[in-house]
Order: sequence, then C-alpha cells, then structure tokens
Amino acid sequence: MIHKIVKYGAPVLEKKASPVTKFDNELKKLAEDMFESMYAALGVGLAAPQIGISVHLAVIDVTTGKNPEAKLVLANPEIIHVEGEQREEEGCLSLPGFRGNVIRPRYVTVRAQDVTGQIFEMRGEGLLARAFCHETDHLNGTLFIQHVGILKRDLIKRKIRKLVKAGDW
Ligand code: NI
Repeated sequence: MIHKIVKYGAPVLEKKASPVTKFDNELKKLAEDMFESMYAALGVGLAAPQIGISVHLAVIDVTTGKNPEAKLVLANPEIIHVEGEQREEEGCLSLPGFRGNVIRPRYVTVRAQDVTGQIFEMRGEGLLARAFCHETDHLNGTLFIQHVGILKRDLIKRKIRKLVKAGDW
C-alpha cells in the first residue's frame, strides 16, 4: 500500500520517534509499504514518521529498486562510527522541490535491527553513508534543513510558508 508522504510542517516530522519493540508481521507489512511508498515517490530513503508513524524504522535503497539486494530495513538504527567528510546537495521527500548543501561524513557505520529483530552493523560510503545519516536524523526529529546554512534555511522556510498560504503544500 502506498502511503501519502507527510510534508514539512507536520509535527510528527520534528519529534523523536519511539523504538520498535515488536518484530511481527505488522512491522514487516509496514516496511513493505514504506518501500512501495518510497519507490512511488522516487526516493532513496524513507523514515516511518514521513508516513505519519512515529517509530524508529527506516528503509533505504540507493539503487532506487534496480538491485533487490540493496534494499535495507533499519529498525532502531544508531550511528556508531563516522569518518571523513562529503559535501553534496541533499533533498527530502517531505520537502519536495527543495535541496541544499549538507556536509556529512564520507563513511558511516550503522548498527540496527532488521525486520526480524536481528542486530547487524553495516558500513556505507558516499550516498549510502548520507542516507544512514539522513534517515537516522528523521527518527530523531531532525530534517536536512537543520544542517544547511541559516540563510538557506530561512529562504526555504519562507518559500514553504508562501506555498502553504497558496494551498500548494
Ligand atoms: Ni528525508
């Protein structure tokens, strides 16, 4: 089932989500729905709060569906190691149409549970490292615009306010 993606302004995006405690069929279904919703929106990552569900669950696929083995479910993810630096433009499905330069580590190691509750660690580089940071941020109520410069952030917020007023957000 494809869920509607919640846009910036919704309180659920800026609050800390609850941990996943039950690794049951309901969670499996939620993860599947999140992949479906992410692919439909042409994203490379999606966090549960972005479909209005405040739990520590995210899905990532930096190949946008091209490689089934690249599908990652991260429950209760924690970043345990970072190295280096990368500066790239970043966007978010909850802020459609807006992008900004964000500095992230080049290498990121994440510790998480898979959809069955199994703990695993994974090291990502480049876009995957960036996705680990971006999605983990979401689960803690942080959006990428917190990491852009203050002028850029204010500009984005101003433009969004205009869109909201016009009924286009
Ligand atoms: Ni996002």
